[in-house]
Amino acid sequence: EVHQREYLSNGEMKKWDGPVSEVYSPVCFPGPDGLKRKLIGSYPLGTEKEAMEALDAATAAYDNGRGEWPTLSVADRIACVEQFTFKMLEQRDKVIKLIMWEIGKSIADSTKEFDRTVEYINLTIDALKDIDRQSSRFEIEQGIVAQSRRSPLGVVLCMGPFNYPLNETFTTLIPALIMGNTILFKPPKHGTLVHYPLLEAFRDCFPKGVVNTVYGRGANTVPGLMQSGKINVLTLIGSSKVANELKKMHPKVNRLRAILSLDAKNAAIVTKSADLQMAVTEIVLGSLSFNGQRCTALKITFVHKDIVDEFLELLSAEISKLKLGMPWLKGVNITPLAEPQKPEYLKECIEDAQAHGGKVINDHGGATAASLVFPAIVYPVNSQMKLYREEQFGPIIPVVPYESIEEPIQYQIDSVHGQQVSIFSNDAKEISALIDPFVNLVSRVNINSQCQRGPDVFPFTGRKDSAEGTLSVVDALRSFSIRSLVATKLNETNKQ
Ligand code: G3H
Repeated sequence: EVHQREYLSNGEMKKWDGPVSEVYSPVCFPGPDGLKRKLIGSYPLGTEKEAMEALDAATAAYDNGRGEWPTLSVADRIACVEQFTFKMLEQRDKVIKLIMWEIGKSIADSTKEFDRTVEYINLTIDALKDIDRQSSRFEIEQGIVAQSRRSPLGVVLCMGPFNYPLNETFTTLIPALIMGNTILFKPPKHGTLVHYPLLEAFRDCFPKGVVNTVYGRGANTVPGLMQSGKINVLTLIGSSKVANELKKMHPKVNRLRAILSLDAKNAAIVTKSADLQMAVTEIVLGSLSFNGQRCTALKITFVHKDIVDEFLELLSAEISKLKLGMPWLKGVNITPLAEPQKPEYLKECIEDAQAHGGKVINDHGGATAASLVFPAIVYPVNSQMKLYREEQFGPIIPVVPYESIEEPIQYQIDSVHGQQVSIFSNDAKEISALIDPFVNLVSRVNINSQCQRGPDVFPFTGRKDSAEGTLSVVDALRSFSIRSLVATKLNETNKQ
C-alpha cells in the first residue's frame, strides 16, 4: 500500500495532514461480503487553498516570462529534462507496479506505457534540438534581418486521463515544460499514485515553482484556477463536457490556449473485398486492447451485409481465444475495468441493445465477475441504440450490417466525433475512393489496420468534439509555444 502524505508545491515536498482520498484497485479479492476492490493506498484530498498556492508558485516562477526557467537556454532546459529522465528510470519498477494496481492494466502493457513514455521524452528532446536549429537561422527580407525562436506561453494546467495516467499526462506535461512554461499538474482520479515516485525528481531537476501538483476533487480545486484568469494554457485529455465547462470558467477565454484530446467513437468499415481474417485480428486489437478503454479504440464496426455471417463467426472464434484475468498474469488480454461504475453501464448498453432487437452473439459475452467483463459482440446494432452513438469505453464490439457504403459515411457525417476510422478492403480503387470522404471527416484514416495514436511522431488530433490542437512529438512542442521574432532593420545605427 502507498499512503501519500506529501505534495509538490513551490519547490518543496509539503507535508499533508488533512483528509485523504482512498485508492482502491480494480483488482478484487474475496471478503466476507463477496468480491471487493483492494485498498492500495491514499493521497491528499487537497482544497482550493493548496491549488491556489500552487498557482501562485507557477505564476511567480514564470514571472511574465522573466523567470529563471522561461529564460534558460534550450540546451539547459534539455539538460534538466534529461536529468529528470535518469531519475525517472530509477523509479521504473515502482511506477509500472502502480500503473498495474491502480488502473488494472496488464503488467506487459504497464511496462510498455512506462517505456513508451521514456522514449517519448527522448524523441521530444531530439525534436526540440531540430526545431531550435531551424528556427534560430537568420532571415533577411526587405532590409530586415530577423531571427525567430519558440517562446513559452505561461502557466499550463495539465490534466491527464486514467487510461494512460503516466504516458498521456507526460505527452502534454513534458513538451509544455521543455518549452519553458511553468506547470500545474493534476493527476487523474484513477492513476494518481502512479506519479508519487516521480515528485522528488521534479523537485530536484527543475527550479522552484516550475512543476507543482494539484491534488483533490476537480470540482473543489480546478474552478478557482480557471476563474483566476492566470492559466494561459489548459491541456486536458478527457471528456469534451469537462473541457467545455472548464474553458467557460476562464474570464478571458480568448487569452486561453486549449490543447485537448477528447471523446471519440472510431468506426471500422469492412467491405466485401476485405481479407476477413486480417480485419478480424485488427478489429479485436483495436476494440479490446486495454479492455477498450482507449480514446482511439474501435467502438463500432460496420460490415457489408453479404459477408457479415462469416465475419461474425471469425470474430467470435478470435474472441474465444482471449485470456481473462488478473493484470499480473502472463499473456492476459482482458483485465478488470478501471472505473467502478463501468460494468453496470456496459450492462445497461447491452440491455438497451437487446430491447431494440440486438443480441449478444458470442459465448459468455458480457458475463461479469466484479470488475472483469467478458467481451461481447452485439449484433445487429442500429441507430436507436446507445451502442450506436455512445462511447462505451469498454469491451463491447457493436456490429452494424450495411448495404451501401453511404451508410457508414453518413454515420461519420452525423457523428459529433471525428478522430479516426479504419477501412478494411483489398481493392485499391475502393480504398482510394473512400479516403477522400473520410479524410475530410476525421483526422486519420487507417487502411487495413486498427486505429491508434502511435507512432508518437505522427500528428495526433481530431475533428469536431474529438480534439483541439495537435499533439505528437513535434506538434506538441509547437502547441505549447509561440514563434516569436527579433527583427533588426539594416540601417547605419544597427550596422554598428
Ligand atoms: O486513450 C487514448 C489514447 O490516446 C490511446 O492511445 O492508441 O496509443 O492506445 P493508443
